Amino acid sequence: MAGSKYQIKMLGNNKSFDSCNEDHILNCMAKGGVSLAPNGCHGGGCGVCKIKILDGEIETLSMSKKYITEDEKESGFVLACRAIPKSDVEFEFIGKPQCKRVEEKKKYGFV
Ligand code: FES
Repeated sequence: MAGSKYQIKMLGNNKSFDSCNEDHILNCMAKGGVSLAPNGCHGGGCGVCKIKILDGEIETLSMSKKYITEDEKESGFVLACRAIPKSDVEFEFIGKPQCKRVEEKKKYGFV
């Protein structure tokens, strides 16, 4: 339902935050003050925000098979910047900076 607020929990550090107006999990993390949110492309193109959905429903936008294979998708892996919560969600953070672009952003102080 549009405008519904769901509780999103990140396993491993007991962080939780609310969903935010049909926005993807990565933006909701930032708006919820969760500092572990990685700063990547926010468009599905770098893979730094890889998570595994442990519980709950999400809608996924298109994701690069370079970062999420079909097998991974079947197992619940998604990119947080391409995953919109549709219920309360629990997930585990998997990703890490792994592309030159992110390293370049860090080098020049944008991350
Ligand atoms: S931030 Fe780059 S794929 Fe999500």
